Amino acid sequence: MNYQALARKWRPHAFNDMVGQEPILRMLANALLQQRIHHAYLFTGTRGVGKTTLARILAKCLNCETGITPTPCDACHACRAVDAGQFLDLYEVDAASRTRVEDTRELLDNVLYPPTQGRYKIYLIDEVHMLSNHSFNALLKTLEEPPEHVKFLLATTDPKRLPITILSRCLQFHLKHITPEQISNRLQHICQAESLTYEAPALEKLAKAADGSMRDALSLLDQAIAYGHGSVNKNDVQTMLGSMAQDDLLPLIEALAAKDGRIIFAQISHLAEHAPDFQQVLEEFINLFHRIAIAQIVPETASEDAAITALLTRFTPEEVQLYYQIALLGRRDLALSPSPQQGFEMIMLRMLAFKLKTEWQETPAETIATPKIITTKPVEPTKIDKSDKNEWRDILPKLELSGMAYALASNCVLDKIEGHKVILSLSILHQPMLNPKLKERLTESLSRVLNQPVQLEINITSEVLATPSKQQQQENAHQLDAAKQTILKDPKIQQLLEMYDATVDVEMLK
Ligand SMILES: Nc1ncnc2c1ncn2[C@@H]1O[C@H](COP(=O)(O)OP(=O)(O)O)[C@@H](O)[C@H]1O
Ligand SMILES: [Mg+2]
Ligand SMILES: [Zn+2]
Repeated sequence: MNYQALARKWRPHAFNDMVGQEPILRMLANALLQQRIHHAYLFTGTRGVGKTTLARILAKCLNCETGITPTPCDACHACRAVDAGQFLDLYEVDAASRTRVEDTRELLDNVLYPPTQGRYKIYLIDEVHMLSNHSFNALLKTLEEPPEHVKFLLATTDPKRLPITILSRCLQFHLKHITPEQISNRLQHICQAESLTYEAPALEKLAKAADGSMRDALSLLDQAIAYGHGSVNKNDVQTMLGSMAQDDLLPLIEALAAKDGRIIFAQISHLAEHAPDFQQVLEEFINLFHRIAIAQIVPETASEDAAITALLTRFTPEEVQLYYQIALLGRRDLALSPSPQQGFEMIMLRMLAFKLKTEWQETPAETIATPKIITTKPVEPTKIDKSDKNEWRDILPKLELSGMAYALASNCVLDKIEGHKVILSLSILHQPMLNPKLKERLTESLSRVLNQPVQLEINITSEVLATPSKQQQQENAHQLDAAKQTILKDPKIQQLLEMYDATVDVEMLK
């Protein structure tokens, strides 16, 4: 059983289904109409803006049995085979996994033979910048004198890493970031087509967080649907993005505590790969340091949050103040810097650069105002009754998870514990939340609580599960109901209702 990711399900199959990139689409359509077709195209642009999609559509345009056309029929054998990923004359490779010259030679082995099914043999080389130098040379030989029946479609996020010799033989098209408006319109269209309940502002938030990438937007939407139990509302999305930012931030803050510039930069570029709203990351940074500052004075405020507790002793109160201030001031700079990532890097550099006076005075480490607050009790290994599935609700708080890991765990039910093996069930609706990173965190926490190395298995099911999250929702609904009744029965309210012929907006009580 599998949930089909929205990004895959909603890959455009025609030029006019693509969002944005109009000038490129127009140029390509004209070239196709006039049959002026170059032998090598290079599509550049950041991830998730349509490079691969465009190349696959172009492969159809070139091979449609109705003739070379910007509007392939989608019905002929060639069109259907391309869409199904089974067209024999489309050689699609991910250069990142086939960098060696042997791979490239093998790929181009049959380049001289005519196509078996279609009009053209199409070589779609994705992430082409990853090829080795020898591979580039092997490719170059064919690019210099390609047979009539061969077309190259290259795609890369990083054209600067391509040799000039390759660049100069390709017709290059740069795909732009997709605007937040275009993204949120597309998300809206998809939500409607999928009959999902959504709030428009929630989609706008997701669109903004996707930072120009349609693929990121769709995978965020997948996760938001899972997070919000099938509907997408603004509050959930805000909490989810906040949790994701916090999850991503923790390793960075850990590196800041260790004052390790190299790891800090590695973490930032790792961040940039998948959660690129640096404004949001900075906000979350400020929130975290605010909570650390408070917890250093009033430790109980952090008792619920393992992440904060772990960070308390890693910073002196002075450092916390300083970093908080730098982050706060950095908010302004971030908007002004050429790219959000650059701005964020400068903010982190500033934090690294400032050395506190207390440290200059060569004070022995222990005497640097370390908050003497945490007295963690040794954790008793938990005994877990295997017989009762509801126990999961009691185990959950002991796992001391936060952010998305908590959200994931609270949407599981415990099936059984068999020796070292813990088996959970997760509804197919929440499958998009499941990723290796979160599973690893859950495994670690379970191992700690069960006091043994745990092997975690999470089964996906289409059953409706009585998860802790569901139970919590039901309890909240009951409480809301009770609150409503109390309010409606209040004599003063009754009086007001009669006087003004009004009703109570119970939605406001949420
Ligand atoms: N311009 C676009 N219009 C509509 N959907 C898009 C667009 N670009 C990307 N997508 C969505 O993102 C997914 C990944 O796009 P892809 O073409 O593989 O991106 P790239 O190759 O640029 O990284 C597609 O399956 C589609 O759902
Ligand atoms: Mg791609
Ligand atoms: Zn066709």
